[in-house]
Amino acid sequence: MTTATYRIGVLGGDGIGPEVTREGLKVLEAVAGGGDFKYELVDYPYSGEHYLKTKELVPDSVIDEWRSLDAVLLGAIGHPDVEPGLVERSVILGLRFSLDLYINLRPIKLYSSHLCPLKDKGPNDIDFVVVRENTEGMYSQIGGHLKKGTPDEIALVNGVYTWKGCERASRYAFELARQRAAARGEGQRKPQVTLVDKANAIRPHDLWRRAFAQVAEDYPEVATDHAYVDACCMWMIKNPDWFDVIVTTNLFGDIITDLGAMLQGGMGIAASGNIHPGQTSMFEPIHGSAPKYAGQNVACPLGAISAVGMMLDFLGEEEAAARVDSAVANLLASGAIPSADARSGISTSDMGDMVTAKIGED
Ligand code: IPM
Ligand code: MG
Repeated sequence: MTTATYRIGVLGGDGIGPEVTREGLKVLEAVAGGGDFKYELVDYPYSGEHYLKTKELVPDSVIDEWRSLDAVLLGAIGHPDVEPGLVERSVILGLRFSLDLYINLRPIKLYSSHLCPLKDKGPNDIDFVVVRENTEGMYSQIGGHLKKGTPDEIALVNGVYTWKGCERASRYAFELARQRAAARGEGQRKPQVTLVDKANAIRPHDLWRRAFAQVAEDYPEVATDHAYVDACCMWMIKNPDWFDVIVTTNLFGDIITDLGAMLQGGMGIAASGNIHPGQTSMFEPIHGSAPKYAGQNVACPLGAISAVGMMLDFLGEEEAAARVDSAVANLLASGAIPSADARSGISTSDMGDMVTAKIGED
């Protein structure tokens, strides 16, 4: 049997990005040690820092090169001295849009009750996944300014929703709900998908309703549910155990997953996959570049490490992915990490070593 060799693009990016990515790669090296798969890394410099030095954003030729990779691992993008969003649009949204990474998969899983700000909640209460549509909605970049800088200025942005976009995101969510229920096994909780929108105030969200309902017909065993996004925020705090899989728009998915990250223990722990099934996909922690913690070896690398786990799962290395997930889960359940943030008292590199040691134990 030949061993697969994956080509993985690495964009450490700005701020704490390179530091947390380094720990993710440390864990990747540890799981690959078993010899089940090989990989080679291709480094890319694009970041706010790089832009300040060179004025260079991501060139089209590099986007084409990315298409030939198996996956991309990203740390964080964003620099305080660069116009807000300029580099983020080039790198993060550039990857999402040009590679048509139409799913942003964001698991919200509590590993240990001491990490959760809600009282009396444990791992059984918080274990759901947000499927965020990743190429449309308010992120369409269609819009602009008229009479800029005058008292008559008009700023317009178009929320774009397509049948195709709503349909494929919904289908992904139903498939995922089916898989999660199969993994839970007989006699456990039944699969459920909740559509989160704002179709009462934003009538075009009705397209989401119709696409979702049509897809649901193909999954009779999956229960369906609906929540307006404001109510969803309320339920996430009041009854997070209600959710199994949520599917939602780009902007709402962005917002509710920061809330979800706090349920898990903080921005430092949450991971995501920007996915086009069967094509090059990108994996990243959901946090930003946190400039105030940059270069101090204090950022929590668990989100970046779990992003590596999600990448392995996507590549079909399910066993390696499960080893990463259990290493993080066991470490957190042991209580050795007081908090999943920059104030844990454990350095970024030590935390990476602790996860790697857990991998060595299994
Ligand atoms: C995220 C981030 C990005 C987004 C920013 C950096 C453009 O907040 O991945 O959640 O809004 O999608
Ligand atoms: Mg966000």
